[in-house]
Amino acid sequence: MSQTRNESTNGPQDGTRRQPVSIPFSSRLLEGRALAQDVWSIFNAANLPSDCLNLGQGYMNFAPPKWITDAATEALNTVGANHYSHPKGRPRLRKAIKQFYGSQFNRDLDVESEILVTSGANEGQYSVFVAFLEHGDEVIMFEPFFDQYLPSVTFNGGKPVYVPLHPPSRDITKPTSNDWTIDFEELRAAVTPRTKIIIVNTPHNPVGKVFTRTELEKIAALAEEFNLLVMADEVYDCLVFDNKEHVRIATLPGMWERTVTVGSAGKSFAATGWRVGWLIGPASIISPTLAATTRIVFCSNSPLQEAAAAGLEQAVEHQFFENQLKEYQERRDIFVDALDQLGVTYTLPEGTYFVLMDSSSVKFPDDYPFPKTVLGRGRDFRACWFIAMEIGVSSIPVSEFYCEEHMSLGENYIRFSFCKDLDTLKAAAARLQNLKKYLA
Ligand SMILES: Cc1ncc(COP(=O)(O)O)c(C=O)c1O
Repeated sequence: MSQTRNESTNGPQDGTRRQPVSIPFSSRLLEGRALAQDVWSIFNAANLPSDCLNLGQGYMNFAPPKWITDAATEALNTVGANHYSHPKGRPRLRKAIKQFYGSQFNRDLDVESEILVTSGANEGQYSVFVAFLEHGDEVIMFEPFFDQYLPSVTFNGGKPVYVPLHPPSRDITKPTSNDWTIDFEELRAAVTPRTKIIIVNTPHNPVGKVFTRTELEKIAALAEEFNLLVMADEVYDCLVFDNKEHVRIATLPGMWERTVTVGSAGKSFAATGWRVGWLIGPASIISPTLAATTRIVFCSNSPLQEAAAAGLEQAVEHQFFENQLKEYQERRDIFVDALDQLGVTYTLPEGTYFVLMDSSSVKFPDDYPFPKTVLGRGRDFRACWFIAMEIGVSSIPVSEFYCEEHMSLGENYIRFSFCKDLDTLKAAAARLQNLKKYLA
């Protein structure tokens, strides 16, 4: 034993020099930007001034309601919830999902075959790709896209195909997320005989777009024409503002059979670290995905499934989603009022907790001491860095959510997350006024 320890620290005892160990990693990591330094690490709080207000990464700086965390504690104090759950998810959570979402899908959801609990939405989506992609199958995603889609697709042999959401025309002085538009000719042209899946993220991260019924009907028609699986990423379904309608594509005629809808307890209950999510869809999609998730994680964490179940069971009695929406609307309004006062152009989000600001009017010196990590990337990387350092509010560059070819479309935009408490948002609103002196 001691000899092994010596060898590992000092080299072999026989006087020979040991070669440095180099075990090649999988070429899979070369795709899907898995090795590139991601924006989250560059704009991580640790790299920014310690008093910088973090409006970058999209997680809350507040806890879930106490009645939900109490349910987590209660679950931890039982024996069963400390152990493996069924790979489909704990019966109580599947039942709660059925009861909460059934009417929204106009269906009597089958808890055995049409609901699958996953380790966050992310792992659920990964499992769908494992279950459905053959090598070379294409997956269409709208840009800007949630960055995890890319490696999740390429790790499973899939090929991402990008269709941009076109930014609002410059003539629109007060754009909303609805002014980010799909060119349907472009979408049709992106479909090939290898297209297998189209991802429809509504409400959309980072644009905040809530896809309209007409847009979804057109996407649905294409999906039917070309026999595509639709992955409806609706993790922000509880954050739709201004009485705008959240349409579930799975409920459009003929779409249930080809759609898997993705949900997240992290977004719904301000609990992004819980890693509990769910998929809702027909048995023909859920059953192969169950086979995949069983072999990836086996099951999701048990006590927090119980807590998520309590959240859904008691949501109506606590008027939880109505109140949460009002709170988010107030947060959004504080933040966009600050941008109005500042006089910059931004996209008013109809959903989610993100605001895209047009940073093209922010002027910063070319010789500003930018770190290497932001040089050579889109202009938005430098704008975010400059604002974080000079103003003390962090944000995320949006060009990261585009493929290289289309990066210039996003280069003007930076994303702020307003899933923060009111004090933080008010402080950020005040600090942002200091940006005025840098506006052209
Ligand atoms: C559009 C979108 N989909 C999926 C996810 C992943 O959700 P979860 O944290 O439940 O894995 C996120 C998280 O930011 C997201 O923005």
